Amino acid sequence: MKTKVLMVCLGNICRSPLAEGILKSKVDITTVYIDSAGTGGYHIGNPPDPRSIAIARKYGIDISRQVCRKLKATDLDDFDIIYAMDKSNYGNIIGLSRNEEQAAKVKLLLGETNDGELEVPDPYYDTADGFDHVFHLIDKACDAIAKKLS
Ligand code: 4NP
Repeated sequence: MKTKVLMVCLGNICRSPLAEGILKSKVDITTVYIDSAGTGGYHIGNPPDPRSIAIARKYGIDISRQVCRKLKATDLDDFDIIYAMDKSNYGNIIGLSRNEEQAAKVKLLLGETNDGELEVPDPYYDTADGFDHVFHLIDKACDAIAKKLS
């Protein structure tokens, strides 16, 4: 059975689509299933933010066909590991959990790297530089995750 990994942020248009695309580029997707979702429902059905699409493309990853969806309670049953981009997302995901087993699936993405930073900053109101920084934070964490999953 495939290991199922879910990447979660607030809008599911900036950070978690990048995390989904980056991790997919580093693992064997015949053995790992990766998806992303948002705790908020502001952009359901939309593609990722054009700035996320552009920064991914700059590094050779196509995320343009992803579609935004909202996190649902059953995701905590269906996925093995759920990565939150920041502590607010983490709290919202934990809030949907119904038992210890589900809560134990939820982790901060940057907990996978040891750089002091624990939160991927929300780049939505930031400049293009913010998206580049976010890309590299996520990329490093995904290197560590890919190593664990291989
Ligand atoms: P994300 O960024 O959580 O990384 O997708 C955001 C995108 C949209 C909004 C907030 C954060 N928003 O409020 O619409």
